Formats: sequence, C-alpha cells, structure tokens
Amino acid sequence: MSFDRALRCRECGREYPLNPIYSCEFCFGPLEVAYDYDGIRDAVTRETISRGPKTLWRYAEFLPCDPAYKVDIGTGYTPLIRADRLAKAVGLDTLWVKNDTVNPSWSFKDRVVSVAIARARQFGFTAMACASTGNLANSVAAHSAAAGMECFVFIPNDLEQGKVVGSAIYRPTLVMVEGSYDDVNRLCSELSAQYPWAFVNINVRPYYAEGSRTLGFEVAEQLGWRTPDHVVAPMASGSLFTKIWKGFQEFHKVGLIDEPHTRMSGAQALGCSPISTAYEARTLNFVPQKPNTIARSLAIGNPADGYYALKQMQETNGGAAMATDAEIVDGIKLLAETEGIFAETAGGVTVACLKKLVASGFIRRDEETVAFITGAGLKTLEAVVDEIEEPLRVPARTERFAEALAARQAALVGAAGGR
Ligand SMILES: Cc1ncc(COP(=O)(O)O)c(C=O)c1O
Ligand SMILES: [Zn+2]
Repeated sequence: MSFDRALRCRECGREYPLNPIYSCEFCFGPLEVAYDYDGIRDAVTRETISRGPKTLWRYAEFLPCDPAYKVDIGTGYTPLIRADRLAKAVGLDTLWVKNDTVNPSWSFKDRVVSVAIARARQFGFTAMACASTGNLANSVAAHSAAAGMECFVFIPNDLEQGKVVGSAIYRPTLVMVEGSYDDVNRLCSELSAQYPWAFVNINVRPYYAEGSRTLGFEVAEQLGWRTPDHVVAPMASGSLFTKIWKGFQEFHKVGLIDEPHTRMSGAQALGCSPISTAYEARTLNFVPQKPNTIARSLAIGNPADGYYALKQMQETNGGAAMATDAEIVDGIKLLAETEGIFAETAGGVTVACLKKLVASGFIRRDEETVAFITGAGLKTLEAVVDEIEEPLRVPARTERFAEALAARQAALVGAAGGR
C-alpha cells in the first residue's frame, strides 16, 4: 500500500496528478510528492517497521511507488557505526558514521534508483536513463540489468575508471559526453522530451528524490527512534541533504519520533562549492560554478536543490564547509585508518568538512553527530593511489622478511625523530 496522493509545486502549492512530470506549469517550481500522512500514521508503528525486511522496503508505506513493481537487489538498512576513534581524532564526544558504501552498487544512489525504477515500471516505462556524475549511472545500470530493462546512462567524459567500468559491466548503453555534468544534464533534459525513457533525475525526479528520505528514516530508527544533534552530509545537487531532514520531519509527523532539532550541515569540495560559498556569503542565491575538483561525484556546478539546501541550513541553524583536494584525500585516509571504512572522494569531503566544522567550534564537542558516508573508495582509486604507504616487497623467505621489517621500523623511528 502506498500513500502518495499528488504532486505539489514547492513554490506555489498547485497540485498535479501523479504523472512523470517534474516542474510546475504555472511558476516552473519543482514538483514534490505529497502524501496522506494520516493514512501512514494509521498503517505503521515502530513495531511493524522493526519487523520489516532489512532493506529500504521496510519503509514501503513512505515511498511513492507500488512495491509490487520493486526491483530489490538489497538496497538500504546499512550500518550506523559508532565511530569513537574518528570522534577522538576530530574532537567530538559522540560520532556515528552512516555507512552507505555497502549498498549493491556501492553508493547511496541505490536508494533513489530503487524508488525511481519501481515508479517507472508502474508508469509502464520499459527503458531507464539518467544524467550522472558516476554513482547514479552505476546504480541505474545495475537495477535496469536486474529488471531486464533497456538502459541509457550519460556521464561526463572525465570520470574515474571505477565509475566507468562500474556502469559498463551491467551492459547499458553508456554515453560519455564531452563536457561537465551540467552539460550532460542539459543534454538529457532535451533528450527526455524526445525519447520515451524514464530519466530518473529528470522526468521521474520527484519520485526518485524521495528515496533519500530513507537515510533519515534509518538513522532515526537505528538511534532508537530519535534524531541526532547534528548531521554532516555531502551536497552535489543538494537533494540528499534536504531529504535526510525531510525524513526526520516525516517520522515526527506520523508520530514515530519526537520533534527533531537536528542542525543540518552540508559538505562540498572547494573546487565545486556553489552551495557552501553562498552559505558563507549569507545568501540563498548561489552563483553557478565550473567544477574543478577530485570529488567528481559532487561536481555539480548548478545545483537543482541548492536554494532549498541553503534555506534548510538557515531553518535548522546548520551550516556548510568546503574542502580542498588535499583535505579530501586526508579525509579518506582518516576515515579508513580510524574506522576501517574506505570511502570515495565524497566521503573524504564529508570527513574533511566535519573536521573543519568541529575545529571552528560550529559543531560543539558535546553535539551527537552523524556523518553520512555515501560511496565506496574502490570507485575512486585515482584519488589515493599515490598517497598510500609503499608495501614491503620481499622474496618468500623469513629472514628477508625480518630484514625488510626491521628496515621499515628503523625508517619510521628515524622519520619520527627527525620531526
Ligand atoms: C557518493 C555521492 N554522495 C553524495 C552525492 C550528492 O547527491 P545530491 O545530488 O543528492 O546532493 C552524490 C551525487 O552524485 C554522490 O555520488
Ligand atoms: Zn508552481
């Protein structure tokens, strides 16, 4: 049973039937799914949710699609890990890491695609498509393969090998476009008017975007039906960041948790920081940028939900930060070395920005914080391959190993002494 009721314009409030459309005919505002919250309130309790499947389908009543059309390759209900060693390193008392690297195509995009493909099948589409910075392409290709659907994924032509192969392996029609993500997106917007495909982040975007709310639902459930004091999450279009907060608010609206008072802070790379820059300039109107950063997954220069992300920072007393390429690499290494989690560059951005927000005192030491780690590190090996310690190389003989180990330890002591 789903409780989606209509599409509603975020700007003027006009309502539309649940069709594959995404912007208001009157004011061009973005459309968002409206729900029958009384119906959801009557249908779910903490107990019914707790008994559900260990995937995002445990929140089926909150999703804008008929679960009969789902393509379930095991997305969601990922670990929320108490990160004491990272907490100590950044200067917090209590820190949790939401580890969304372990989804089927190794990023949180499996959440949005799970909802988009179910809704697309419900609409009768037989082909899926998307404009992507990499992770979305991986996920759309994977889910389409599992559903036996045609698939067309469009990416910029400068992506990491892990992202390219990570799509191609599922055998979609993979299109590398000369230009940035913003060029890819413009092309796909035009193509969506010509081809009868479900472009997950264009004509079915209102449904697709709702999938990210499940990150908010899961964190609230996993914390024992409550919300944290502070959230730090990465921002590209700004959609994920706004939907985590929407998830918290909806859980309250249907009576599952107390009113959330979470401060929501966003993370971007310095080389593509339209939202964080606008935050620092204290304006809700960002200026589009031409991206230049190793965090390619976050390289959206003209973010569709940038305005709403900025408004949310204002409303929740949250903030934003940005990280240089070197800080992103350090963030990836710090998370790996303290918590055993290998994140892609977006995770490095999140950890680096978390560190800055704590160091500046914006996040207080006693604020219980959740950091969202949204994609896996094997996808962006290029970012760290030159930054790892050289392995010991030895013949298969014990004494040669002992020599090499002693030499390494002496070098380490020497390096420490020389500081
Ligand atoms: C790993 C990862 N994290 C976060 C994001 C941000 O997503 P959004 O566009 O919803 O802000 C992306 C977007 O592609 C991503 O790939
Ligand atoms: Zn409108």
